Amino acid sequence: MIDKFNNTNLKSITALVDQFGRVHTNLRISVTDRCNIRCFYCMPAENVVFRPRDELLSFEEIVRFVQVVATMGITKLRLTGGEPLVRTDLPLLIRQLSAISGIQDIALTTNGLLLAEHAAELKSAGLDRLNVSLDTLQESTFEKISRRRGIQKVLDGIFAAREAGFSKIRLNAVAIRGLTEADVVPLAQFSRDHNFELRFIEFMPLDAEQQWNENDVLSGPVIRTMLENHFCELLPAERTEPSQPAVDFCFADGRGRIGFINPVSQPFCEDCNRLRLTAEGQVRNCLFSTEEWDVRRLLRSRATDEEIRQLVRDSVSAKAQAHGIGSPEFQQPARAMYQIGG
Ligand code: 5AD
Ligand code: SF4
Repeated sequence: MIDKFNNTNLKSITALVDQFGRVHTNLRISVTDRCNIRCFYCMPAENVVFRPRDELLSFEEIVRFVQVVATMGITKLRLTGGEPLVRTDLPLLIRQLSAISGIQDIALTTNGLLLAEHAAELKSAGLDRLNVSLDTLQESTFEKISRRRGIQKVLDGIFAAREAGFSKIRLNAVAIRGLTEADVVPLAQFSRDHNFELRFIEFMPLDAEQQWNENDVLSGPVIRTMLENHFCELLPAERTEPSQPAVDFCFADGRGRIGFINPVSQPFCEDCNRLRLTAEGQVRNCLFSTEEWDVRRLLRSRATDEEIRQLVRDSVSAKAQAHGIGSPEFQQPARAMYQIGG
């Protein structure tokens, strides 16, 4: 039997270490810029211009890229979008990625709307973990955020995923001041009742309409106080992976865990181990970087593996120390979240 963890290419592993000593083991792959809803913190309300299909990387191109970076120490993948489940035949890609030597973990971030119909095939294709975006349990708030209806479909998707055998399902809630305060306690209650892991994410300046304002951020520390006032004390959970962006807590009554991703109030750039590949084949070293490295050109021009490796090394070497949100020099990237990949 071939052991996929016993990487026969070990000799060619050249770890992706940046100028600040951060070792990159994680790759986030956007498989499409399309989405079936229009969250205001990500997309414009109307007239969204999507990339033509032939500009997107094919599955073959994505697989080739991952085969190459797997020889450089990338072990974990996350598929994002846009909404990754609108990409046709996604399970086929997952199946191919999970067969690549060195790849140990594949996760997916989805808005959940199409999850009920795809959960079983995602599981059997080899998907290890699922994150579902769930900012609210109320249809009216869901509609304000996503400019579409559909909360029940999302909830159906979450339960279908559990039914399909996904044991650890994470729920991600972007928190917006003046909009989702009333959702904090119900979301935590829901997660405690059904044993999901909930994470609150601070609103970041990645909205297409560039309306982000620091005052719109409902910060992790504020949410933590709301939860402690309602439920009980939150005790810091053991940090199993230092590079994970979330800081996790356990409810003191033993019923559930909760996490906070606080990129604005408590940046975690210091431990970042992530690289990104956009749907049209640009390598990015940060959500907030203003530079990209065009690997699609290499993939479409018979470039050697070593040329691809060099491009990835160049991108990692150029990675900035921190995103600098809040500093006077900070510039919101020209691309919005759906064009980068969450
Ligand atoms: N700030 C914070 N989180 C965001 N997401 C999308 N846009 C933003 C933003 N501007 C989240 C989505 C989803 C993941 C893909 O990224 O809600 O959880
Ligand atoms: Fe779609 Fe996700 Fe962007 Fe919402 S945040 S519009 S679900 S890609």
